Amino acid sequence: MSLLKALDFSGKRVLVCGASDGIGYGVAKAFVEAGADVAVTGTRSACDYDNDFTAMEFHSLNIQDAAAVSGLAAKFERLDVLVNCVGSVLWSKREFEREGFEKIITINLTGAMQLCTEFFPLLQASQGNIVNIDSVASIRPALNNPAYSASKAGLVQLTKSLAMKWGRKGVRVNSLAPGMVSTKLTANQSSPEQQAEFATRNPVGRFGSPEDIAGGVLFLSSPMAAYVTGHQLVVDGGMTL
Ligand SMILES: NC(=O)c1ccc[n+]([C@@H]2O[C@H](COP(=O)([O-])OP(=O)(O)OC[C@H]3O[C@@H](n4cnc5c(N)ncnc54)[C@H](OP(=O)(O)O)[C@@H]3O)[C@@H](O)[C@H]2O)c1
Repeated sequence: MSLLKALDFSGKRVLVCGASDGIGYGVAKAFVEAGADVAVTGTRSACDYDNDFTAMEFHSLNIQDAAAVSGLAAKFERLDVLVNCVGSVLWSKREFEREGFEKIITINLTGAMQLCTEFFPLLQASQGNIVNIDSVASIRPALNNPAYSASKAGLVQLTKSLAMKWGRKGVRVNSLAPGMVSTKLTANQSSPEQQAEFATRNPVGRFGSPEDIAGGVLFLSSPMAAYVTGHQLVVDGGMTL
């Protein structure tokens, strides 16, 4: 295939989980622009969000509910790309309590494993691929978020492990680590003052955007990355340097 056509996703079926808002919604919009048939998930109904989902197929999903994950997979007849943007964090040191720790591990890591395994048969049939969104917290732990940091570090190794297991079956599995992006997840770190202070320390000199992350996701899921698997692509403007 011509590399110039590699980012044309016409005829491809793409599912972006955790795409009600923020990074996932930006990734989903980029796939729509690239011609894909896009499905997305959020925990609530489409009408509960401010975003426009008319160009996408919307499904409600709470990844803590194993039966709901299986039920979502059962609704699909084919899939070429699975992007897992589902992610959650708890503040006020609640991740230091067992209940909070387990909740975040379930959402960010156990749920990711189930999504990958439930959709694997369809991805094998299409010789497709997976992109898991991890975090720079997998590299530099977040001070008050042990569950978030551990879950994202776990997601890196989960990605590599599945890449080894499924490589010969024709399914690539990669991850992408965003740096700082202003979303509801980072609302307490994204005030104009905080963004301006961050810009003085970040080598690229600004916060990232959902579009910055979408560029990396489209690359990893396209034929341009046909020989890339088990890779963590860090998209952080140099934050972790
Ligand atoms: N923003 C950053 O700076 C940054 C940096 C590094 C990594 N990340 C990662 O990027 C991904 C997207 O985060 P974001 O910043 O765009 O935040 P966001 O806007 O809050 O998006 C998180 C998504 O995950 C969904 N979600 C949360 N809990 C869920 C559950 N129990 N079951 C199913 N879906 C659930 C949310 O659905 P609802 O909207 O319905 O709650 C939403 O669609 C996450 O994995 C996050 O860890 C973000």
